[in-house]
This record gives sequence, structure tokens and C-alpha cells, in this order.
Amino acid sequence: MIDNWRDAIIDLTFFVSAILLVFSLNRLSSPKTAPFGNQLAVIGLALATVATFFLEEVERNYVLIVVAIVIGGALGYVMAQRVQMTAMPQMIAILNGMGGAASALIAVAEILGRSSLSRGTVLSIVLGCIIGSIAATGSAVAYGKLQGLIPGRAIILGNRQVIAAGLIGGMVLLGALTTYLQDGAVAQTLLVLTFVLALAAGILLVIPIGGADMPVVIALLNAASGVAGILTGFVLDIQLLVVGGALVGASGMFLSLIMAKAMNRSLTSVIFGSFGASPTSSAKGAGTEEARPVREVTAEDGAVALAYAKRVIVVPGYGLAVAQAQHAVQELAGELQKRGVDVRYAIHPVAGRMPGHMNVLLAEANVPYDDLYEMDRINDDFSKTDVVLVIGANDVTNPAARDDPASPIYGMPILKVDEAASAIVLKRSMGSGFAGVENELFHNPKTSMLFGDAKVSLGKLITEVKAV
Ligand code: TAP
Repeated sequence: MIDNWRDAIIDLTFFVSAILLVFSLNRLSSPKTAPFGNQLAVIGLALATVATFFLEEVERNYVLIVVAIVIGGALGYVMAQRVQMTAMPQMIAILNGMGGAASALIAVAEILGRSSLSRGTVLSIVLGCIIGSIAATGSAVAYGKLQGLIPGRAIILGNRQVIAAGLIGGMVLLGALTTYLQDGAVAQTLLVLTFVLALAAGILLVIPIGGADMPVVIALLNAASGVAGILTGFVLDIQLLVVGGALVGASGMFLSLIMAKAMNRSLTSVIFGSFGASPTSSAKGAGTEEARPVREVTAEDGAVALAYAKRVIVVPGYGLAVAQAQHAVQELAGELQKRGVDVRYAIHPVAGRMPGHMNVLLAEANVPYDDLYEMDRINDDFSKTDVVLVIGANDVTNPAARDDPASPIYGMPILKVDEAASAIVLKRSMGSGFAGVENELFHNPKTSMLFGDAKVSLGKLITEVKAV
């Protein structure tokens, strides 16, 4: 009787948690409601964690669970407190990797620790092991690339097609054999081998992917960790894990598709494109050419151009986040608007280092949402604009993506800054952006460079605009 009551309460708690997670995701769709969405998710996950304590099969392991929660919770808390907005994608990569690794390890532990498994359970174990391991090592490589520990450009290995075919073929064969054998020493050994091959496959899949495709890859790995979670939910018979995994998997997949579309790439070309790419790209990398003249502008002249313009479009990029110049740009826009200048912001879908990066940053400085324009809504207006103020944006304005088929970012839609009457670019040097390619826009006769940290340069522009 007591057991029945306990099971019913646990099931009900998991059900409430699942509903909270669904609502949380719904609230996360707008920056205004996102903090509440986060709170709902925290409550949902806390409820689920407490309910897990009362599951029959974990009763004996209280101490281990508490130790794991304390260590994991402390690490998570410190990481979340310390992470810079600019390092958020790395944080997401770590979390994806942990989710994938947890699923893969549970899969291995289940086959080693349980006997008389059904064939369906073993199939879930095999798939969870493969997908979780790929998410784990793939995310580790993505983290290394974003953190600058390994080069962010595409690293093309020799014989990669042969190695990839070998790994994928090996995983399929070993996984099928494990599922056929179901349990016993041979099945266990085969699953451990599958695990090792899948870990290697994760590295091989992500290593050849270049900088510009990384956001899509991170979202895909996110989806993979969700799918691994679903499979683990089947194996452990925990419905909440199935629901949570499905939410992560579906949202990661949608995000991947939206971003791939924004970059005009298909998912298959993002994942497998580099397998066929040439080891030596003919694209112009930064610094590979002789120095060409660029036009510099002083803050004083830049301010005059801005103050007397009718229409100004601000193009924010990753450098705005690095410089934490969101408040400064809001102040400058306010000064210009006081003078009757029409100021709008053009937001490229992959500007910055994570989806919505620029929206979040500008919202923090209370820039009105109505002033933010997504790329498709504003791109045709550049040709009618007097001055474009590019702040720490680079790849998302690079005409090579439109004009140079040899460029690694060829095909990615760009903000058409070069169509405006003039552009002022705020950055510290002629250095390249995330994709590591030179930007022709900076050599365009209509472009002037205002070198320096974006926040400092904006401060100077504000002072000068006030003096005009
Ligand atoms: P980037 O092309 O990365 O260029 C950023 C520029 O900011 C750099 O050229 C840098 O030039 C400048 N900068 C850095 N610190 C600065 C500072 N303190 N003050 C002024 N300028 C500064 O940025 P983007 O145009 O936003 O493009 C985003 C890139 O990141 C794309 O290639 C995209 O694919 C990739 N990416 C995007 C995401 C998502 S989802 N948004 C995720 C991962 C990767 P200096 O060094 O000369 O100052």
C-alpha cells in the first residue's frame, strides 16, 4: 500500500516536472519572459531530483548521490557565476558534452551491471552509447576550438573519408552484434569497443568543421545530447528523462535548422562538407596578403558624419560583447536620435558567439526592441542609408561570403553594409573575425576605420557628437 502511494507520488512529481519543463521552454522564447522560464526549469529539475531520491532502485546510494550533487552543484554554480557572456558558447559546449558523456556512461554501466536485458533495451543502450559518446567528444573539440585551445579553422585530416567510413562501419557492425547477443561477456566487450569508436568519431566529426559553422555544430551536439537522454530514459525507465531529452533534442534540432538556414548551409554540408574539402583552401586568410591601404577616421570626423546623417544603421558584432560597449552604443544612439537621426540596429542571426547574443546584449542596455531589425527586414535598407556604424562586427559583413566562392564563409548571407553611402568600422586592428578570413569591406573606399576598443571609441564619439 505504502509502495503504491510512494510510486503514485513519484510519478505525479515527475509529471509536474515535465509540465514545468515544457512551460519553461515556452517562456524562454522571449528575452522578457526568459528569466521566469529559467525559474520554472529550476523548480522542475529540483522536484525531479528530490523525487529521484525516493525511487526504489537508488535508495541504497544516498551518500553517493548527495556527494555527486554537492560536487556538480558547486561546480555549476561557480561556472555560471564566473562565465563571461562572450564565453557562453563554450559553457553550452561543456554542458552538452556532460549530458552526452552521462548517457554514454550509463549505457556502458547498464550493460556491465545488469543481466537478462531485453533486445529493445540493449538497442537503446547501444544507440545511447554511440550518440552520447559522439556528443561528449564532439563537444570537447568544439569547446577547444571556441576557447582557442585548438585552431578554430577547419582541420582537414588526410584519408579522412576512409577513417570516417571505418569508424561508422565499425560502430554499426559492433552495435548490431551487441544488440543481437543482448548480454554476456562478449556483448559487454563489444559495447565497450563501440564506446571507444564513438568517442573517436565525435572528435573526427567536429575537427574538420571550420569557425563559421561552429554555432550550428553546437546546436546539433545539443540535439544529440537530448536524443542520448531520451534513450537513457528508455533504458532506466524514467519518463521524465524521455520528456526532458525530447525537449532538448527537438529544440537543438530546430535551432540547428534555423541557424543553418540563416547561414545558407544545409545540415549535411555543415557536418560532412569538410570531409570532402581540400586541405589547402584558396580563400584569403587574414595576413596572407600585402598590407593594403585603409582609410582611417578620427572620432571628431566620425561624429560629424553621424550627427549630420539622416539615416544610420548600427551593426553590432562580437567585438561589442568583448568591449561590453552596449550601454555606450545605446547612449550614442540616444544622442543621435535627439538630433533627429533615424537610428536602427541590424542584427545578423549569427553575430556574436551564440544565438540571440546581440539581442540579449542590447536588451541589457535597454535598447528598445522596436529598434532591432533582423537581417531580412533591414538588408534592403542599407542602400538608402547614409552611415553604417559597424561595432566589432566582421564576418557578418564580409562581402567575400557573397562574392568569393573560395571563401570558407561563401554562401553565408551577410548584412549589405557595402551598399550604404559610407561605413565607419570600430575595431582594434585589421585582425580577422571568427572565421579567420580577411574582410574586403575594410578596404572599400567608402569605409573608414576608427581603431581602438569599441567602448573607448564610442565614448569619444559621444563626446564629439555632443560638441557638434
Ligand atoms: P567576428 O567576425 O568574430 O569579428 C569580431 C571582431 O570584433 C573582430 O574582428 C575583432 O577585431 C573585433 N573586436 C574584438 N574585441 C574588440 C573590442 N574590444 N573592441 C572593438 N572590436 C573588437 O564577429 P561577428 O561579425 O559578430 O561574426 C560572428 C562570427 O562568429 C561568425 O563567423 C559566426 O559564424 C561565428 N560564431 C557565431 C556564433 C553565433 S550562434 N552567433 C557562435 C559561434 C561562432 P579586432 O581584433 O581587430 O578588434
